[in-house]
Amino acid sequence: MEPLARHLAAFGQEHLLAFWEELSPSQQSALTVDIQSVDFQQLQELVAAAPESDIEDLARRAELPPAIRLSGAGNRFSREEARVARVAGVAALKASQVGVVLVAGGQGTRLGFDHPKGMFPIGPLSGHSLYQILLEKVVATSRRHGRPVPVFVMTSPATHDETIEFLQRHDRFGLPEHDLFIFCQGTMPAVDCASGNVLLAEKGRLALSPDGHGGLVSAMTSSRALASAQRRGLKHLFYMQVDNPLVAVCDAELLGHHILCGSELSTQVVAKREPRENLGNVVVVDGRLRVIEYSEFNALPDEIVLRRQENGERVFWAGNTAVHVFGVDFLARCARRGDLMPLHRVKKVVPFVDAAGKLVEPAEPNAWKFERFIFDLLPAAAEAIVVETDPRTHFAPVKNGPGQGRDTPESVKAQMIAVHREWLQSAGIELPQDLPVEIRPLFALDAEGVRERKVPEGLDAPTFLE
Ligand code: UD1
Repeated sequence: MEPLARHLAAFGQEHLLAFWEELSPSQQSALTVDIQSVDFQQLQELVAAAPESDIEDLARRAELPPAIRLSGAGNRFSREEARVARVAGVAALKASQVGVVLVAGGQGTRLGFDHPKGMFPIGPLSGHSLYQILLEKVVATSRRHGRPVPVFVMTSPATHDETIEFLQRHDRFGLPEHDLFIFCQGTMPAVDCASGNVLLAEKGRLALSPDGHGGLVSAMTSSRALASAQRRGLKHLFYMQVDNPLVAVCDAELLGHHILCGSELSTQVVAKREPRENLGNVVVVDGRLRVIEYSEFNALPDEIVLRRQENGERVFWAGNTAVHVFGVDFLARCARRGDLMPLHRVKKVVPFVDAAGKLVEPAEPNAWKFERFIFDLLPAAAEAIVVETDPRTHFAPVKNGPGQGRDTPESVKAQMIAVHREWLQSAGIELPQDLPVEIRPLFALDAEGVRERKVPEGLDAPTFLE
């Protein structure tokens, strides 16, 4: 304990050992491991920093990003260019060059769901979970092109064991065992905003939380997921979050633009519905693409948030859908650099054990949490592109609990039904107004897939096509 105490005292964190004598030997070892995982020097600098001023400066200098529109999201690109892109995307899929990364470190807490968010039942008629819908989209993509599409799932300590158990119990929703690689991200300690003290979650455990989806790069490296992707000859990784059941997994047109432009990191955006929508803002600063995250952006004054270019277009129009395509070589280069993603600090409510050993559950945000954001790799890409999609058909993230305004389970389910109805109608199938239908990814992935299937005629009751 002595060296540990001296180390902590050098950073004013000796309170972490306040309950040492009460701990069992195994609790003492667990606490020692927690403490040794922390870079206290770095933490001290992070707490002292004032990142907000950098954001304001960035936002003042930002310019709007040029974007390629996917067909369906407008006509900026011709049908021919879209077709050429799709051909290139399909060729990469058929050459087994494409894998999927799914970041799933989040819990369903905001949805009032005490499990990994990926387990949340979102299928409007099927009740299928986000994991099932997303993984079946991968399986269907793989079947469509006759090639395996490996999936790399990043969990956090909070979601890891339950995710593994859930996916195994459901036979990985049809994904072959050797095509699924699950690995866990790292953590960062929470720090009391007022005192700068690292918080204890229990007398013998630090309050640690996931280090953000930017933790992907180091977690993929240490777990050897990246090495596995390289060994399998993958060239492109389609990246998605666990919360959007309408995502077009491995969209061939998006992949094709990424490939034809020689992009190392491509980002899919949607036009924001309002200036302070909770979406990251994709912009150009000093000739490089980057994302200014909404948690930092939305606090800026109107004169910045509503800025327009000389031609009248809004600078901050492009909302990050958190769908990206990464070059595998690029990710490997970033992994070697290791210093490309800053830690952002966010004020959150973090329960903690106080000096008297009592558990405190604050009502207001009390602590800094530190996270890396994956999109901070954008400026490091030699070539990066922005691709715009239609939010109505491809973006329905479930973020909030029932009845809490936007992006709720009800609104997402309604949007899924509307899109699936459109696929059927575009295949010439007539539906009674307001009839709920849901299409399983294994039945069809899109309108084109529906046209290739036989759909029962005269649907007149809620139907799940599987
Ligand atoms: C996120 C994006 C935002 C984007 C929006 C689109 C960030 C910081 N911001 O916002 O730019 O416009 O989605 O829907 O992500 N996750 C991990 N590990 C972590 C943290 C998050 O795996 O340590 C995963 C979560 O499981 C989730 C995703 O990352 O799938 C996004 O996290 P969340 O906190 O929901 O981000 P948003 O605030 O919604």
